[in-house]
Amino acid sequence: MNMNSENSAIIPGANFEQLFMPVTPENISENVFSLAGKIFPVITAGCVDNCNAMTASGGGYGVLFKRPATWCILQSTRYTLEMMLKFGSYTLSYFGEEYRDDVLFLGSKSGRDSEKMSEVNLSVIETPLGNVAFREAFLVIECKLVQVTTVHEADFYSEEAINYIGKVYKDPDEYRKYVFGEIRAVWEKRGG
Ligand SMILES: Cc1cc2nc3c(=O)[nH]c(=O)nc-3n(C[C@H](O)[C@H](O)[C@H](O)COP(=O)(O)O)c2cc1C
Repeated sequence: MNMNSENSAIIPGANFEQLFMPVTPENISENVFSLAGKIFPVITAGCVDNCNAMTASGGGYGVLFKRPATWCILQSTRYTLEMMLKFGSYTLSYFGEEYRDDVLFLGSKSGRDSEKMSEVNLSVIETPLGNVAFREAFLVIECKLVQVTTVHEADFYSEEAINYIGKVYKDPDEYRKYVFGEIRAVWEKRGG
């Protein structure tokens, strides 16, 4: 539970649109390869009073079922994944370098057995769609959960992938879920 949440918890989206402006997926200012490869997104699921967030890497952007979509890769044991499945939606928040330590902190321990959401130096804020993101983010992408696919060792073909996945897949708990979400809204920080 995050103690930093504001009154925005009471009125969905209050304050949010003062901080963020809507943009279309086609008009995201940041190059999507930078978003997927250089800036670690924080994935957040839940509601302001009961949410969880984790640091991610990789993933991407494209079109799925004729709609703009994102995909990310989560280890099957992530508490955030559990929350994504429970709530059916989630956000990707992107932060500037000055928040690097906070972003990494959210990737350092699980919210299943810690209070990391109240320990992190970031403030949660409710989005107009009722999702949870962070005030300090420069970009927030709201997603509806569309597809979760479990991949297995035999699904990989390139040498790099086989080498990587061969090491990772010793333990079934390490299995990766490929998570696809429809982009429902994109928000960029005003004056950013
Ligand atoms: C830079 C960085 C990138 C990460 N990328 C991923 C990722 O793409 N997928 C994943 O499952 N875990 C990733 N992790 C690990 C999770 O963020 C970490 O295990 C986190 O504690 C999970 O929290 P949760 O159990 O509360 O969901 C990453 C961690 C860091 C620090």
